[in-house]
Amino acid sequence: MTQDVLVERHNGIQKITLNRPHKKNALTPEMNAAVADALASGEADRAVRVHVISGSGDSYCAGNDIGDFMKQNAGTADDAAVSRMIATFPLLEKPIIAAVGGVAVGVGATMLLHCDLVYASPAAVFSFPFLNLALVPEAGSSLLLPAMVGRHRAAALFLLGERMGAEEALKLGFVNEIVPQADLVTHAIAKAAILAAKPPGATKLVKMLLHGEAQPVINRMLEEGAHFRAQLKTDEAREAFSAFLEKRPADFSRFG
Ligand code: COA
Repeated sequence: MTQDVLVERHNGIQKITLNRPHKKNALTPEMNAAVADALASGEADRAVRVHVISGSGDSYCAGNDIGDFMKQNAGTADDAAVSRMIATFPLLEKPIIAAVGGVAVGVGATMLLHCDLVYASPAAVFSFPFLNLALVPEAGSSLLLPAMVGRHRAAALFLLGERMGAEEALKLGFVNEIVPQADLVTHAIAKAAILAAKPPGATKLVKMLLHGEAQPVINRMLEEGAHFRAQLKTDEAREAFSAFLEKRPADFSRFG
């Protein structure tokens, strides 16, 4: 079992910590599998009433590991673990709270659209640089993000790759509150404790009603996933991944 994801359960709260701080908590397949397993097992455990997810160090999550994307481009790895992790989110019946203490990139940002409450530190920055990587939005975010922030702001985030800071995220309703970094996880746990004391059956119903039907989100995730997997294999994506790994700007001038 990977030490890059820590899972603790106390007083009805399952706390999941992405714990690869030297890589800004970028997700490896083992981490994606561990998060999916923790969520599934927390859902099945009557003692768990609420999930809390956060990251170690100065980041929340820098998205999927681009070295792993490179392996998928070369056909030496697949996306099974991340697909399973993403697919878990819209099916969660118990509330999930995120504490975002720094960068939230790619799937690190899109997973937040499935969370019920999101608390962020002043240093939180949200970005969706799929297009910069020759990829497309995933996790239902092409449906959920425009619904939350408006289509034009979503276009600037998805197409231009603009970043959204904590203040803007608060203004747009993407996060609930900005909390000082030192208090962030404690604050999220305190909110989780409030939820853990609520009647569990009614809590699930309120969550379900708030999110609305899961099927349109799942359908969009499947549509996004097909394009994402196809794009991962392209030459333009290989150029984008190589550029990141070689710490140079990408050059797409020879494509098209
Ligand atoms: N995959 C693989 N490695 C990653 C990573 C990712 N998604 N995100 C960060 N890292 C690594 C960096 O390569 C660096 O490794 P090194 O120390 O061995 O060189 C380390 O984590 C620290 O990152 P660094 O870029 O030096 O930190 P920063 O504070 O300057 O920038 C980010 C942080 C998250 C803005 C930047 O790392 C980034 O843009 N990462 C890519 C995010 C991304 O595109 N994710 C996929 C979305 S689909």
